[in-house]
Amino acid sequence: MDSALAPLVVARSTRPGSPDHGQQHWKAVAWAGLGLARQVDGCDAELVLLFALLHDTQRFNESRDPEHGLRAALFAQELRAEGVLALDDERLDVLADACTRHDQGFVSDDPTTGACWDADRLNLWRVGITPEARLLSTPPARQRELIADARSFHGLAYTWDDLFDGFAQLAP
Ligand SMILES: [Fe+2]
Ligand SMILES: [Fe+2]
Repeated sequence: MDSALAPLVVARSTRPGSPDHGQQHWKAVAWAGLGLARQVDGCDAELVLLFALLHDTQRFNESRDPEHGLRAALFAQELRAEGVLALDDERLDVLADACTRHDQGFVSDDPTTGACWDADRLNLWRVGITPEARLLSTPPARQRELIADARSFHGLAYTWDDLFDGFAQLAP
């Protein structure tokens, strides 16, 4: 998997330029996820990156869109069927489930799902919401310093090349 995946996904996303839910947000989620994947034992870093890239790609609006996670999961399944994503059934299921339920207020004991949801929630600052430790799944995400640092994440400049490189270095 390399960063060529990003433009392909962007081209097939509904609102990539959205300030709150578009590409800048996906990159900031990848950045947060990269930090967590380094610290969470048993976390599948590649799935965290894929979650960041895909989870908000199929939004129809900027407010209430309760099925956007499900549509992102279907998109992930489509990409696997097309041979774009090389994931076995088990990993695809983890990714699809993390996408489907990401906005439903759950926490997870699964290190990968937990890191995905935490990476998204640490970025709630961008919409004026302070991330709450009780809604974060992984111990590193619940650290007060990280929650505070995450306030800056949405405003940082990222390239997909750098983010993919960061994850590649973590991959087993
Ligand atoms: Fe979302
Ligand atoms: Fe999101």
